[in-house]
Amino acid sequence: MSKPIIIANWKMNLGPKESAALALAIKEKIKNKPDGEIVLCPSFSALSGVKEKISRSRLKLGAQDVFWQVAGSFTGEESSRSLLELGCEYAIIGHSERRQYLGESEIMINKKIAAALAHSLTPVVCVGETLLERQEGRAGYRILSQLEAALQGIEVVAGEELVVAYEPIWSIGTGLPVSAEQAEEIFGLIRQVLLDLYPLTIVNNHVRLIYGGSVNAANASDFKAVGLINGFLVGGASLKANEFSSLVNNFFKD
Ligand code: PGA
Repeated sequence: MSKPIIIANWKMNLGPKESAALALAIKEKIKNKPDGEIVLCPSFSALSGVKEKISRSRLKLGAQDVFWQVAGSFTGEESSRSLLELGCEYAIIGHSERRQYLGESEIMINKKIAAALAHSLTPVVCVGETLLERQEGRAGYRILSQLEAALQGIEVVAGEELVVAYEPIWSIGTGLPVSAEQAEEIFGLIRQVLLDLYPLTIVNNHVRLIYGGSVNAANASDFKAVGLINGFLVGGASLKANEFSSLVNNFFKD
């Protein structure tokens, strides 16, 4: 299995100066465990300031979104080329907040994944069901259809990486993470979808499955029991240097 990965999603919570200060504080508190990758995803305006603070460290940089065109008349958008130039290695794509507030569709998400891969950014593809979908027993179907739409026509070849983040919407920012059993079921399903699309060696070595939704330093180790989980996408708990660094330091092996 590939290295575990923990991704901090700071959303629109911090300005450039606050982001740079938090990056520095996290850098100082993270132990030098070789086992995993740590990615900080500040807002666009904070990317270069954060990059400067984490240079010469094991922390990596990611963006919270990416547009599918490389250049042109697309007011307000950021291209993979620009993100790469700023030092990004990852891009979160299809976060439920973008689907909900920005009207991001499956087609847009699919194009963004293709663009990211084409320009050497690793997509962190988010999928997740609503509370109603879970209550009505439609969680599995929802995840399956989101993932199939997101990855339609997307090749993942040796040398490329893909991260799939399962983030149930009812769990984001609510303090209610999924249970180990719920996670096990959905991650099994995600793996099945991936195996329908890609060869086993690609799925095993180039695709990481991570969980997001109310993960913190106290509950992260509960997910170790769920064999398929290879890391986390962390919102609220990544905004405090102490909390985030103990989450990382506890989760990664020496
Ligand atoms: P949370 O957010 O950790 O605050 O629940 C996760 C996310 O939205 O990526």
